[in-house]
Amino acid sequence: MLKLAVLASGRGSNLQALIDAIRMGELDAGIAGVFSDKAASGALAIARGAGVAAMHIDPKAYASRAAFDAALFAAVDASGAELIVCAGFMRILSPEVVAPRTSRMINIHPSLLPKYPGLHTHQRALDAGDREHGASVHAVIPALDAGPLIAQTRIAIEPGDSPERLAARLLPREHRLLVQVVRWIAEGRLRFDAQAVHFDERRLSEPLRVG
Ligand code: GRF
Repeated sequence: MLKLAVLASGRGSNLQALIDAIRMGELDAGIAGVFSDKAASGALAIARGAGVAAMHIDPKAYASRAAFDAALFAAVDASGAELIVCAGFMRILSPEVVAPRTSRMINIHPSLLPKYPGLHTHQRALDAGDREHGASVHAVIPALDAGPLIAQTRIAIEPGDSPERLAARLLPREHRLLVQVVRWIAEGRLRFDAQAVHFDERRLSEPLRVG
C-alpha cells in the first residue's frame, strides 16, 4: 500500500478526494500524514476528522525558509511517506528539499501548464480569451509549477464564465485527476523524475488525459 504525505495550505478538498477514494476501496493507498503551514487550514481539520495524523508547522517559528523546509521534510520523512502530494500548498519550497525528492513528489495546479504557473490562473485564462482551461498534475522540481507534466484534465470555457464559475466547474475534475494519478503511481504504472514521465514503461511525449 502506497503511503502518502499531503501538503496543503487551504480548504483541503483534494485531500478529501484522496480520503474518499481510499475509503471506497478505489485507491490502494494510506495517508501517513497531512502537513500544513496554516493552523486554520481546512486540510488539517479534515485530516483530524478522518483520524489521519495532522501537523501544523508554523513558518514564523523558523528563522529562514531553509530552516522551515528542513523541519517540514524531517516530519514528512518521519511519517514514512513514499509519495508526497502537494495539494494547494502555497509556499515555495527550496531546491535543497525538492531536488532529492523529484521522483516522488507531485503537485496539482489549476491550469493547463505550461500556461499560467503561479496564482490567479482562472482569471488569467479568461483574460487571455482561452476557449479551454484545466488542471495539471506534474512532478515537482525546484522551479515553480514547472516539472514534467504527468496528466491534465480539460474543460471548455463557456460564455459568461467568471473565475469563480470556472473554479467551481474545474474542482471536481481536479479531484478525479489527482486520484487517478495517485492510483497509477500506487499501481506501479507511472513513474517520473525531473526529466521525464513514464507510463507503462513508455516515455510520455505529452501529458495523460483524465476526463
Ligand atoms: C486547487 O485548485 C489546486 O489545484 C490548487 O490549490 C487548490 C487547492 O484546493 N493548487 P483544496 O485545498 O484541495 O480544496
